[in-house]
Amino acid sequence: MAQRPTVARTVAKLRSLLSPYRARGQSIALVPTMGALHRGHLALVKEAQRRARRVVVSIFVNPTQFAPHEDFGSYPRRFAADIEVLTEAKVDMVWAPAAEVMYPDGFATRIAPQGAALAGLEDKFRPHFFGGVATVVAKLFTQVSPDVAIFGQKDYQQLRVVTQMAKDLDLPLKVIGLKTVREKDGLALSSRNVYLSELERGHAPALYRTLEECAARIKAGEPIEMVLEEGRAQIALAEFTLDYLEARHALTLAPIASVKDGPIRLLVAAKIGKTRLIDNLGV
Ligand code: PAF
Repeated sequence: MAQRPTVARTVAKLRSLLSPYRARGQSIALVPTMGALHRGHLALVKEAQRRARRVVVSIFVNPTQFAPHEDFGSYPRRFAADIEVLTEAKVDMVWAPAAEVMYPDGFATRIAPQGAALAGLEDKFRPHFFGGVATVVAKLFTQVSPDVAIFGQKDYQQLRVVTQMAKDLDLPLKVIGLKTVREKDGLALSSRNVYLSELERGHAPALYRTLEECAARIKAGEPIEMVLEEGRAQIALAEFTLDYLEARHALTLAPIASVKDGPIRLLVAAKIGKTRLIDNLGV
């Protein structure tokens, strides 16, 4: 039977468990998660195992990236099941601090990312989000000091923000973004997919279908804004309330008018029923 990963609950314990790895010169990969693990997370773990000798998965539902009206309270928490999955995946260690450990009394620092964090995409609808993400990810990076950290591309703006933050703060690690894992019908895997009713689940792949169609048409030379307008209408027809469907420069997330101006990423966010889904695709 596979060995369960060691679970660290305090920074002191985490560091004492990591220090023998370092003493032996073993590389460390971190996979930051909020738990409720699915196949997408397992793909991140596999990539982490490919890139480093030791793999740490953090499980922490970070309160500071949720606004009061959002789903922090109801966000799926399945710690015991997650540990089973990570045992099967042969992960070395789980870093699972309580909120009081991550943010002890008197905690008073918040990172305010700029650039891609202010692109007018997720930040427009969740203004608190990237400050919370950047702060907790900076903490995870300093707590674990990994050689490499693996994130999913599904949260594309988050990936750009975290990559920029690691660069700007001279953090000595490599941030890797891994291709989104999808259901057979194209729906991007997400811990929030459990919120979808059967009917909503039936409509949900329309987001990816629209991204694919828009990407193909833009690649073929059709005007970007016209293609996006039609994409937006298509998403609305599939019972979604659209937050945005945009074409942006894939690295800076600045608006982009033509395929000649750089690599393009299409990004979408929309609500179906009470569930907000995001997705993205390169052109
Ligand atoms: O993508 C997530 O699961 C979270 O935003 C992260 C990166 C673990 C930070 O809380």
